[in-house]
Amino acid sequence: MLGKARAAGPAGITYLCVDVTRAPTWWDGRPFDGCTCELALMDIDDLAGALATVAAVLRPGGWFVASVMHPCFPGNGRGQSSWPPGGGYEREGWWTSPGHNPEGVRIRVGATHRKLSTILNALHDAGLEAERFAEPPAPVPVPTYLLWRCRRR
Ligand SMILES: C[S@@+](CC[C@H](N)C(=O)[O-])C[C@H]1O[C@@H](n2cnc3c(N)ncnc32)[C@H](O)[C@@H]1O
Repeated sequence: MLGKARAAGPAGITYLCVDVTRAPTWWDGRPFDGCTCELALMDIDDLAGALATVAAVLRPGGWFVASVMHPCFPGNGRGQSSWPPGGGYEREGWWTSPGHNPEGVRIRVGATHRKLSTILNALHDAGLEAERFAEPPAPVPVPTYLLWRCRRR
């Protein structure tokens, strides 16, 4: 994916392969105006670690825009629920399931289900102040995605 991004992207972008849950030793100390993370926090086991990195590299007032699979999403014909089959909203943590498409990402790397309150509290604890939330319309009674913009306190 990084190779494709480097080949396709405009010049002047630096792509790094790093573990965002670790201290940002790759960072030159110049604060970023913003960070974005699309549909990846469910794939990152250490949410507090990832958010600590975001908060560390942002300037005060810098934005953090992210999307996750909605923690309340109960699944539909095309997508799996946020939690494992047979599980439920209350039980948090990493999961995978042999019932998934064997070619799909969930059977290969799993996912971490977190309750909405866990996500909101983690943002708050990292010093990321919620500014805006969005839940795009979905063909099921509960939205599929949750998006937000926070700012570093
Ligand atoms: C579902 S993919 C989303 C990728 C992309 N944002 C998209 O929308 O197609 C989740 C991504 O999270 C990355 N990831 C998981 N744990 C990570 C970590 N600790 N640090 C950095 N990236 C991580 C994986 O490498 C993977 O590329």
